[in-house]
Amino acid sequence: MNPTTPRTILVVDDNATNVRVLYDVLSAAGFRVLVAQSGESALNKLKVILPNLILLDVMMPGIDGFETCRRIKAEPSTQNIPVMFMTALSDTADKVKGFSLGAIDYVTKPLQQDEVLARVNVHIRLQSLQQELQQLNQTLEQQVAQRTAELSTTLAQLKESQLHLVQSEKMSTLGQMVAGVAHEINNPVVFISGNLQPAIYYVQDLFGLIELYQNRLPNPDEELANRIETIDLDYIREDLPKLLASMKEGVNRICNISTSLRAFSRTDTATQIPFNIHEGLDSTLMILGHRLKSTPKQPGVQVIKDYGDLPLVECYPGQLNQVFMNILSNALDALEEHYQHQVNEHSQLYPGTIRIWTETLDEEWVRVHIADNGPGIAKEVRSHLFDPFFTTKPVGKGTGLGLSISYQIVTEKHHGKLYCYSEPGQGTEFVVEIPVRSPMVLPSKSEGLTVKD
Ligand SMILES: Nc1ncnc2c1ncn2[C@@H]1O[C@H](COP(=O)(O)OP(=O)(O)O)[C@@H](O)[C@H]1O
Ligand SMILES: [Mg+2]
Repeated sequence: MNPTTPRTILVVDDNATNVRVLYDVLSAAGFRVLVAQSGESALNKLKVILPNLILLDVMMPGIDGFETCRRIKAEPSTQNIPVMFMTALSDTADKVKGFSLGAIDYVTKPLQQDEVLARVNVHIRLQSLQQELQQLNQTLEQQVAQRTAELSTTLAQLKESQLHLVQSEKMSTLGQMVAGVAHEINNPVVFISGNLQPAIYYVQDLFGLIELYQNRLPNPDEELANRIETIDLDYIREDLPKLLASMKEGVNRICNISTSLRAFSRTDTATQIPFNIHEGLDSTLMILGHRLKSTPKQPGVQVIKDYGDLPLVECYPGQLNQVFMNILSNALDALEEHYQHQVNEHSQLYPGTIRIWTETLDEEWVRVHIADNGPGIAKEVRSHLFDPFFTTKPVGKGTGLGLSISYQIVTEKHHGKLYCYSEPGQGTEFVVEIPVRSPMVLPSKSEGLTVKD
């Protein structure tokens, strides 16, 4: 309360002389004085005005001071107003009764003007101190609530970064494992592929030799003739080259997979190295190959590549591959769900397509576009796309970490940019921009997150 506004005191007394005296003393001391000549009249006044203090006579016609006090204390709007009794009684029992009804003090009649004023001042001061205390308490409570909120935000952030750590740790362990497996596969595969071609030549030579024998011995004896028939030489001649060719094809595929696995999982923590982005994209596509093929659930996804003429890019290849992996698997998830939706709605079926194209922006930047013709992304979802743990997928399927980690890898680790363009029904396009030279040499151009409408 503003200290310059006059404090209001309600004087309740049926004795006109007393009222007069109190009115003069208190007004002279700067108080605003209201007067009521009975308990009822006081209670009526309290319905419209709330004084800072009530001076209450005990003996009055109608309801007496005690009853008036009881009613004041029973009413929530007035119960906190301090009440001071004025009593002619020197009876201790009455004073005690007054206190037990909630009075804070009493003065005895005949009134000593100085004493009344001194006591009134003390209680008014007490009351205002109490109000200040209440306010301080409130501020304190607000501050505590605010701190608590800040702390729980910090805690949430901690949990988040912990999960990030766990996730990237998992990815790097996985990367190392994949690299290890790819390496181990590589040796035996090299034995096979390295020996397969000579084996094919040897077989051709042997067939040639048999042919020569047959020309020289047009009429083999019975044993030879039987043997030729048992092993079905003509069939072997026809089938063995095919069989070898398909073995060669199989080994080639294993080689490709092993190369892709190694390219994908190149562990490169310390420094950035020159990297062929197209190799990264191709190895990622190869690893996702099984999801591109047609299954009973969906008819296969077509990938259209349009690679520009890109320079090698200084980067952490394993991490960039992880970004491509996250974006591509999201696109595949979206296409699968979209296809299922079309089937359920009996609407026209559009085959899923992923378009990947690359280009240079200028000497210093390259750009990779990955677009799908899936369901697109609603505006509300788009604004949370890069938030950690934001997912629209069912529990167990989505973690909501893919894009937030990708965002971190692109902007923080590579000082690049990651955009998303999407409208519901229009498909989705992600764009990754990476500086060609590592930011140690090149000052960052990154301005951070950009989600375009
Ligand atoms: N190509 C896309 N098409 C439609 N929605 C997408 C696409 N890519 C990402 N999203 C949306 O962004 C959300 C977050 O993706 P992400 O961070 O990878 O987490 P998660 O895949 O675990 O849900 C997805 O749940 C999905 O709603
Ligand atoms: Mg994802």
